[in-house]
Amino acid sequence: MLPAAGSGVRLGAGVPKAFVEIGGVPMLVRAVDGLLSSGVVGHVVVVVPVEQLRDAVGLLPDRPVTVVPGGADRTASVAAGLAAIGPDAEVVLVHDAARPLTPAGVVRRVVDAVRAGAPAVIPVLPVTDTVKTVDDSGTVVSTVDRSALRAVQTPQGFRARELRLAYARGPDPATDDAGLVEALGEPVATVAGDPLAFKVTTGWDLRLAGLLLEDASA
Ligand code: CTP
Ligand code: MG
Repeated sequence: MLPAAGSGVRLGAGVPKAFVEIGGVPMLVRAVDGLLSSGVVGHVVVVVPVEQLRDAVGLLPDRPVTVVPGGADRTASVAAGLAAIGPDAEVVLVHDAARPLTPAGVVRRVVDAVRAGAPAVIPVLPVTDTVKTVDDSGTVVSTVDRSALRAVQTPQGFRARELRLAYARGPDPATDDAGLVEALGEPVATVAGDPLAFKVTTGWDLRLAGLLLEDASA
């Protein structure tokens, strides 16, 4: 599933972020094709703003996709996408349209780990910056032990049953999808993420994505 129903306030492109082009191709198309090119994804449910339903269908011809309208926050959009996933799906990935350069290897590692028995799997990277907590005045309170920290990417992978159960209990907008499964008491496994799976949030990220694509095609 590809949640792509956000408005992209922080990018401020004037159109919903998933429809912004990188190297002439909208992020949502890059993200769908990235999932399909992994060879382990059979169908993609794409969740878009209701105003963009027709545009999204037009951008994704000849692909095994279902396009559905999203909700007010990402959690509501994932819930809408989940409702459109067929009953025979065994493994469900939840990805971000805003991670258009995610390598196929990340997708395969996540699916492999779910198929090997993990109820929930997330791709992660070590945290390289020193991380500190501060008080209201900005004064440092403590230094966090970085060795135990991981930055979390997508796609996050789930046994379909566990993800459905987690959302049936009432989604909490404050956590990610794996956090909801964690709240069920299920273990969440990690696999190696990839720097290329970074999320395009700001104009800086968009510029970086464009430069990386140019670099790859040079
Ligand atoms: N998303 C969604 N439905 C929402 C909000 C977000 O499907 N109501 C999706 C976005 O389209 C994106 C992913 O969730 O692919 C990650 O969200 P984020 O990077 O925060 O994107 P936006 O919400 O669009 O950006 P912003 O928060 O800057 O407005
Ligand atoms: Mg957002």
